[in-house]
Amino acid sequence: MKKRYIRHASELVTCKGKAPKHGKEMSDIGLIYDGAVIIHDDKIIAVGTTEELDKQVNSEEYEVIDAAGKTVMPGFVDSHTHFIFGGYRADEFSWRLKGDSYMSIMERGGGINATVVPTREASEEELMEAGKERLNRMLEFGVTTVEGKSGYGMDCETELKMLRAMKKLNETHPVDIVSTFLGPHSVLPQWKGKEREFLDEQLNHVMPKVKEENLAEFADIFTEKNVFTVEDSEYYMTKAKEMGFKLKIHADEIYQLGGSELAARVGAVSADHLLKASDEGIRQMRDAGVISTILPLTAFGLKEEYAPARKMIDEGCAVALASDLNPGSCFSNSIPLMVALGCIYMNMSIEEVITALTINGAAAVDRADKVGSIEPGKAADIIFLKFPSIHFMPYHTAINLVETVIKNGDTVYH
Ligand code: NIG
Ligand code: FE
Repeated sequence: MKKRYIRHASELVTCKGKAPKHGKEMSDIGLIYDGAVIIHDDKIIAVGTTEELDKQVNSEEYEVIDAAGKTVMPGFVDSHTHFIFGGYRADEFSWRLKGDSYMSIMERGGGINATVVPTREASEEELMEAGKERLNRMLEFGVTTVEGKSGYGMDCETELKMLRAMKKLNETHPVDIVSTFLGPHSVLPQWKGKEREFLDEQLNHVMPKVKEENLAEFADIFTEKNVFTVEDSEYYMTKAKEMGFKLKIHADEIYQLGGSELAARVGAVSADHLLKASDEGIRQMRDAGVISTILPLTAFGLKEEYAPARKMIDEGCAVALASDLNPGSCFSNSIPLMVALGCIYMNMSIEEVITALTINGAAAVDRADKVGSIEPGKAADIIFLKFPSIHFMPYHTAINLVETVIKNGDTVYH
């Protein structure tokens, strides 16, 4: 058995307790000064102060890891990405800098649809190769679990190819991948006006194959003006749930359509984006236990106003933070920039940001029983920061402070 003992962490962030954390609970990150963690194989078996755990450890049997001067915390869970795709859309970014909007580019054939051709053309191996590089970059930022979506195929073959690439990467790469089927990501020109038929095609032909090969746990949809209506989304989500998929939704991003209320109605695990979520939608998400996942890197890149995170937390919602890494609206998976935006522009405390990136992210991918906190029984997914306090995270602005990443008990980045 592999036995490791981390001791003398200047600050040990545990994020322990019931998950997800709502409202005020998000401020409680279970901080232990001079903290220590015992790991056996891939699991955490004890957590406490160094003084307490020193009594339990026979140091000859253990690999002792000195964490003096470091902050030790759970690996981050990036609960919303589109990290598998072919091609890039740098041209669109430059058009937006000159004043074009994301939706106007989409309406003239760019946007998500522009990623479909290169994704169809890429082989499964090519998607995996590019995906592996992106996972490596995530690991450097301390991400140990990531959610990834299909949605650039718009046909059965390519959607399955994207999901199979993620399944194989999950088996070979240290970062754990939770897969989401996002067939209804946009409407190709041949389906315009026939959105219901397109959804039926997904539900009746593509999704049974996804289930058969066990390729995705979640189903997601882009509910947006000129994409999928609330009525069509409700139809799709209800049927997807009946098929055994857990639900996510891209909701209230550019226009306030009522995606947040829909998420509450259908019992989605999370509703994501939420820049334009209504006050009523926020209350309904809270009451229905829907995790409000906010994606500030996208708002930043699109020069949109940020989601009302402060209001959500004050109303008692469980908020998660995720990157939304994708080739269009947000080609960034920078955790440190997300921390900066959360603290500086969204008025979140660093404790709330940490909760949103760890245990609440884990809950948003239905993994809060396995990852997202440093507690006995959980996977030993643990990161070390170069500085002794969490307060360096926003202060050393947009700088990656991650020095070491332990995944399932093994050091996978240093
Ligand atoms: O979450 N909003 C819809 N989907 C993605 C964008 C994907 C793309 O532009 O390629 C998002 O922002
Ligand atoms: Fe997205």
